[in-house]
Amino acid sequence: TQYPYYDQAEPVGIRTPPQRYSIFMTFDMNDGSLKTDLQSLLARWTAASAQLMRAQPISQVQPHSDAGVGGDTGEALGLDAASLTVTIGLGPSLFDDRFDLAAKRPRLLHKLPALPSDNLAAATSDGDFSVQVCADDPQVCYHAIRNMARMARDVVQTRWTVMGFGRASAGKGQQTPRNLFGFKDGTRNVSTGVDFDKHVWLKDADWMTGGTYQVVRKIEMNIETWDADRVSDQEHIFGRGKTHGEPLTGKVEHDTPRFAAKGKDGTPLIAPTSHIALAAHENNGGVKILRRGYNYTDGINEFGQLDAGLLFVCYQNDPAHFVQLQRKLGAADLLNEYVKHIGSGLFAIPPSPKSGHYIGEQLF
Ligand code: HEM
Repeated sequence: TQYPYYDQAEPVGIRTPPQRYSIFMTFDMNDGSLKTDLQSLLARWTAASAQLMRAQPISQVQPHSDAGVGGDTGEALGLDAASLTVTIGLGPSLFDDRFDLAAKRPRLLHKLPALPSDNLAAATSDGDFSVQVCADDPQVCYHAIRNMARMARDVVQTRWTVMGFGRASAGKGQQTPRNLFGFKDGTRNVSTGVDFDKHVWLKDADWMTGGTYQVVRKIEMNIETWDADRVSDQEHIFGRGKTHGEPLTGKVEHDTPRFAAKGKDGTPLIAPTSHIALAAHENNGGVKILRRGYNYTDGINEFGQLDAGLLFVCYQNDPAHFVQLQRKLGAADLLNEYVKHIGSGLFAIPPSPKSGHYIGEQLF
């Protein structure tokens, strides 16, 4: 598939059915950069995103002169678009005071508050920009992020990155995939048009109307300890069966969980401190977020254990919705014994650019 970039009803890479692979990278403007540097960076990144999504090099691979270096690094030549999407986000720090943009700050774009279960490292948090590339071919993904980074080297530094090797949420027509704990992830997610309008896209938000907010959490999963736990306990922790993903009050995956249902001994069938009981919209005043995460691995850690987790990415029209859920999960989730939030970021995703225009143009 080849997705169009310009003139879309919504920014790409959000409702788009999750591709197989993703690379997420953040960047900071170099010290001393000018507002015009920021402006031309956004214009160049927008143009490059459109080229890449058309499976075109961002510039010539083969220079005319023997002395020339390539404008594009070339490793995607001959590959098709592989459903590539490039999603650019703006971090709260861009609006601090370096570029005199305070008046244009997206209204809800402020660094996330400290949250229970935060174990955040500065080296894997925040950033002036996020770039999320997703594609069905890892080489297409890498080529895109590499060239986005390379073309911007004159004005930005890379900050942190996570390579996602497998989707952990489903879109329209896809089977629910599994996270590294072996459970189906993304069963109950924002999926209908009504829910997207209500929970994801920004309305009446000035230049951000039609955009959204992206929350990113790098969550380390202690998979070696998890694997030593009884499967029945794992199911108790999530509130769902492992093989089929059914709620513990139901038979098949998409049965609606019944949080009030009790067993013969009077205890709830889905524990009130299970992950789904704490996170479900029924128990959160109707709050829903679109989860669009990826499994990642960082190889092995200093103890020789497998180092892996979930790059949790969610989209919502108010970051307070994520905060509300994470406050509850961080305080009580049975899953906490096995996970650690080591990275975090909040970014504003502007609406789809009109052709001939660029992302964030309204800032200038
Ligand atoms: C549901 C895994 C972190 C919010 C689920 C489900 C699984 C899961 C297996 C059940 C299937 C489904 O409905 O998708 C994980 C893992 C996490 C994690 C392994 C960390 C490594 C989070 C975080 C949040 C979150 C940080 C938000 C703050 C939700 C929500 C649901 C859900 C809203 C749907 C609940 C429902 O309506 O039934 N998660 N999750 N999860 N999770 Fe997580």
